[in-house]
Amino acid sequence: MSSVTIRPVSGLHGRVRVPGDKSISHRAVLLAALARGTSRVEGFLYGGDCEATVRAVQALGVQVERPRPDTLILTSRGAHAWQEPEDILHCANSGTTMRLLAGLLGAQPFTTVLTGSAQLRRRPMGRVTEPLRRMGVQVLGREDGRFAPLALRGGDLRGIRYTLPVASAQVKSALILAGLFARGETVIEEPGPARDHTERMLSALAAPITLQGRVIRVRPLEEPLPPLDLRVPGDFSSAAFLLVAGLLVPRSHLVVEGVGLNPTRTGLLDVLEAMGAAITRENVHTVGGEEVGDLSVRTSALRGVDVHGEMVVRMIDEFPIFAVAATQAQGTTVVRDAGELRVKETDRIAAVATELRKMGAHIEERPDGFIIEGPTRLRGAHVDSYGDHRLAMAWTVAGLIAQGETVVHRAECIADSFPGFLELLAQLRSDD
Ligand code: S3P
Repeated sequence: MSSVTIRPVSGLHGRVRVPGDKSISHRAVLLAALARGTSRVEGFLYGGDCEATVRAVQALGVQVERPRPDTLILTSRGAHAWQEPEDILHCANSGTTMRLLAGLLGAQPFTTVLTGSAQLRRRPMGRVTEPLRRMGVQVLGREDGRFAPLALRGGDLRGIRYTLPVASAQVKSALILAGLFARGETVIEEPGPARDHTERMLSALAAPITLQGRVIRVRPLEEPLPPLDLRVPGDFSSAAFLLVAGLLVPRSHLVVEGVGLNPTRTGLLDVLEAMGAAITRENVHTVGGEEVGDLSVRTSALRGVDVHGEMVVRMIDEFPIFAVAATQAQGTTVVRDAGELRVKETDRIAAVATELRKMGAHIEERPDGFIIEGPTRLRGAHVDSYGDHRLAMAWTVAGLIAQGETVVHRAECIADSFPGFLELLAQLRSDD
């Protein structure tokens, strides 16, 4: 598959589950590699991104059995037993793999080289290599370590106090993980509520981490972590595509079951509710320190909204699909303070403006966001994913409500985070 053709549908109905959370899946593998013993991870996201993390820990000597694609059994003796990888580690398109591994491997007394796809090699790495150098990690890399490939060697790290210049869960996680192997205390202050899965998972494993508002304190790990036994919740960022599809396609009613509802991830829910969306949370409970529940959505009339400040951080991965929703909202939608979108898998501000315009949307690009006037009747067009999974899925949802045919080019990247997305949509359509 490289291009997919999408035709409008007259309704979406049913109860579905989405694949496991991408952020939690990466962390589960990495924390299992830090543990002594055998960990079990169920509901693992077997998409392209997380597979890169699995291959990396295997290269370090962790044994991985796979009774089913979404079940991993990982056996490790802890980080002190990791071996120097024989070859470079390839992180594919995955920023989370590269940045979290940089923190962990920067603490190891051997050399590792991290590289990735052309897309990943264009993404900023100085935000992790700069503080890691301050902790004592030796870093070599393109443009003095600002871009991958990166070569890392550590061994004698010291804790630092560091205020993150941008709210980034990947950067804070890299520093937390390095801090577990540094002398003294590592104190990290974050400017906004970036996803806190690393903190929650480490706390659940009784690791030496304490949280106080926006300040995270990490002390050296004295013993390997205990093994994990984890069920990964459904990925809210994947559910987001189905939620918006359910809101926009006429006469729809969908329930997405078992979705992670960590408040650092659910900004889109709050914004959609403010726009008038009929979404309800059901069966909310806590699993492994994370809130999980079912989301029920019905077709709704939406109105424009302003999104800025901390809300941007809480919905950072949802802007492509949010932009599709905004094209159908009555009035003006303004997004600002979202310059980080320019350094995601691709420049998501430019891509959203360029591609949605091809479908007839009224959208103005701004340096740190965009302005959309709605509602617009979208029309089918040839649109490009730029190799970015979230763009491919956003255009697919736009195609469900557009007039005529929409062709999404380079759609195979959908499997980076949501294998089976197109099949699931086909299952929900009620017009066949
Ligand atoms: C992620 C953090 C976010 C997010 C990405 C996954 C993570 O990136 O956009 O999809 O798992 O830590 P940043 O840390 O660059 O904001």
